Amino acid sequence: MSTTSTDVAALRREMVDICRRMNSSGINQGTAGNLSVRTDTGFLITPSSLPYDTMQPEDLVEMDLDGTYVGRRPSSEWRFHRDILRQRTDINVVLHCHSIYATTLACHHKTIPSFHYMTGIAGGTTVRCAGYATFGTQALSDNALTALKDRTACLLGQHGQISLGKDLESALWMGIEIETLSRMYVQALTLGEPPVLPDDEMERVIAQMRRMSYGNAPDPEGVNDLARPRAQA
Ligand code: 13P
Repeated sequence: MSTTSTDVAALRREMVDICRRMNSSGINQGTAGNLSVRTDTGFLITPSSLPYDTMQPEDLVEMDLDGTYVGRRPSSEWRFHRDILRQRTDINVVLHCHSIYATTLACHHKTIPSFHYMTGIAGGTTVRCAGYATFGTQALSDNALTALKDRTACLLGQHGQISLGKDLESALWMGIEIETLSRMYVQALTLGEPPVLPDDEMERVIAQMRRMSYGNAPDPEGVNDLARPRAQA
């Protein structure tokens, strides 16, 4: 991702917009949650303990991968943002929040199984729950990286969730989907532990999701057997 200073200014504005949408979508509240985006020199991250309704683009903190920063005090969770961005070159955005249903499951250290095909959106047959560690610590970052192996989302034991994306929109989408999936799982659990889809079906689901980019991939050649827009006269 190559970013000029004009791009960085636009990125700061987009981050504020996404943060406010984290709140308006219901996945975040108060001063919980944090967001980071990769730049050429490191990453931009939300400041610690600043409510998103009053946060301005200039409040976002510029950090290097060595952990040094310019501006306000960065999110207390800068370590897991830094470590994920450093290790996961397949993504550019890290979103963290304490959304209610994902956190409900995380309070019971529950991994989300393939009770519903949408479990596959995070890239595997489960959405794992990372072991508990104190917020802001290297131990929490290490646990998160383990739970995120080959996945683009995880729950954080007795804490919340992390969702990853190639860009800000896709990370927000993932955060909302993980919350919706968690809500369905909590609901399904009220009738007992639901049955799970077998691994070979989940493989088909994940392959299908990748092929279709789950509704986002243009398919002008029709090679992916997607519905095609009708040619206009
Ligand atoms: P920050 O305000 O420091 O980002 O902390 C919020 C949080 O969610 C900690 O996990």
